[in-house]
Amino acid sequence: MSDYMELAKKRQSCRTYKDQKVEHEKLVKCIEAARLTPSACNSQPWSFVVVESPDLVSEVAKTTMHLGINEYIGQAKAFFVVVEERAELMPKIACMIDSQYFAKGDLGAVTLSLCLEAESQGLGTCIVGLFDRPKLRQLLNIPESNGIFLVVAVGYPSGDKVRDKHRKPIDSIVRYM
Ligand SMILES: Cc1cc2nc3c(=O)[nH]c(=O)nc-3n(C[C@H](O)[C@H](O)[C@H](O)COP(=O)(O)O)c2cc1C
Repeated sequence: MSDYMELAKKRQSCRTYKDQKVEHEKLVKCIEAARLTPSACNSQPWSFVVVESPDLVSEVAKTTMHLGINEYIGQAKAFFVVVEERAELMPKIACMIDSQYFAKGDLGAVTLSLCLEAESQGLGTCIVGLFDRPKLRQLLNIPESNGIFLVVAVGYPSGDKVRDKHRKPIDSIVRYM
């Protein structure tokens, strides 16, 4: 059994990557792990585009750099694009709550699953929320009916130093009763 705490401490946004291709099998395994993520009514409101062919990787990278930020993304060797699918909750729940109510949470969870599986395979990732959505949509032929939730940059980290995590103090985020 692997130690989740160890994985959670090691995972960090990776912004410098080695010039080393990521094996297709490793990317597939990330998708397999993400597929197991829980979701409301098991509605699984997600699909993925895995970008690994070098020409397309550099085109996707450009869509994340258009604001003059995310320059480091040019070093990434692959991308997961997390696409929003329509959530269908069970009818007896959907009559009480909008079917899309939990979808964003589900999509966030599936994104972290991708990152943690990648981490467990020695890969680095960085979740990227700021990118040129219309351009990426056009590039990857993603229909207008689907949102593009997030992009995840992937590659082998160029170093192995784990940075200090800056998080709110634990006492400020929890109450035990
Ligand atoms: C929804 C979301 C969007 C993000 N967008 C970006 C981004 O566009 N560029 C970037 O460099 N990091 C981005 N990040 C990474 C966060 O800055 C990072 O997760 C946070 O600072 C905590 O650092 P850590 O991931 O190293 O623990 C994003 C993270 C999330 C969850």
